[in-house]
Amino acid sequence: MASSSQHTIDTPDTPISIDFEIIKKLTQNEAAAVDQLILNELSSDVVLINQMGHYIVGSGGKRLRPMLLLLGAKALGYSGNSHLTLAAVIEFIHTATLLHDDVVDESDLRRGKESANAVWGNAASVLVGDYLYSSAFEMMVRTDNMRVMEILSKTTTAIAEGEVLQLLNCNNPDTSEEKYLAVIARKTAILFSAACRLGAVISNATKEIEESLANYGQHLGIAFQLIDDALDYTASEDELGKNLGDDLAEGKPTLPLIYAIQNSSKKEANIIIDAIKTGNRDAFNDVYAIVKSTKAIDYTEKRAKDEAEMAITAIENMPESEYKNALITLARFSVQRNY
Ligand code: IPE
Ligand code: IPE
Ligand code: MG
Ligand code: MG
Repeated sequence: MASSSQHTIDTPDTPISIDFEIIKKLTQNEAAAVDQLILNELSSDVVLINQMGHYIVGSGGKRLRPMLLLLGAKALGYSGNSHLTLAAVIEFIHTATLLHDDVVDESDLRRGKESANAVWGNAASVLVGDYLYSSAFEMMVRTDNMRVMEILSKTTTAIAEGEVLQLLNCNNPDTSEEKYLAVIARKTAILFSAACRLGAVISNATKEIEESLANYGQHLGIAFQLIDDALDYTASEDELGKNLGDDLAEGKPTLPLIYAIQNSSKKEANIIIDAIKTGNRDAFNDVYAIVKSTKAIDYTEKRAKDEAEMAITAIENMPESEYKNALITLARFSVQRNY
């Protein structure tokens, strides 16, 4: 398996992980308050909910989506408390999707630990995922803002559509790049976009700024998932905290495979096509060799970098601030990360 060395940064002096830590510091007080809200919200008297909720929330995660909401709101001078609640809501929704996703993808490693489904089984993961979704909506309603509710309910519907669309593409080697992009726009990018949009909405930003931030989030989310799909082939498992090859094992036609099929010999393409059809983890090394020789990872990373630059361009009209700069750096971090 490949090393993650290609995910180092272009600018020679500052490792990108340091940039990420600096950005985190900008919202560290709010992030701590958000974590506290999350923990409070998890205190159900149903023991299993408590246990599983704390297990997954306590096992880390980059907290990227709440950070986007907090940075967006701060960049627009927001001064209230709804940003904390909504950041918690966004992380709850994200966590619910992870619980469900690991069941659907049959993944047994998440955030460097056994996934919840590996520990407690599929039924418990689905049900606690549902609990997190419902809690998120309960919290959201407390903000008493119809626009917020509209955005979040549309978002969760779209995520579910994305996951179902992806299911339909599984084991289908004819999936086009366009179809793949339609899936990741919904399953991943829409939540990034909603987090950013909410930062603008609660700050009473103009419609123009709201759209700019939402577009930033949408491009960033696409970039983020493109890199996630590259990392499923190239990362170090320890750094990523997830198993490599899960996508292949599920027969998921992600961009590295779509590109490799189109840019290899018939014989090589057939190796990938068969692996997608059967969802064959054992073919990982053979498939990876073709992915590598066709430069499919380079292509996927290039597409991600282009999306990250589009994200940055989208917020050009926002007022200058250290928070806006952090959003710019986050876009670059998202395509240079190796975890
Ligand atoms: C994982 O998201 C799911 C994807 C959309 C690829 P993250 O990589 O943000 O997961 P955590 O929260 O940091 O574990
Ligand atoms: C992301 O897809 C899941 C959602 C956005 C719901 P993946 O299946 O690629 O995520 P990981 O790799 O398991 O984190
Ligand atoms: Mg998955
Ligand atoms: Mg993945």
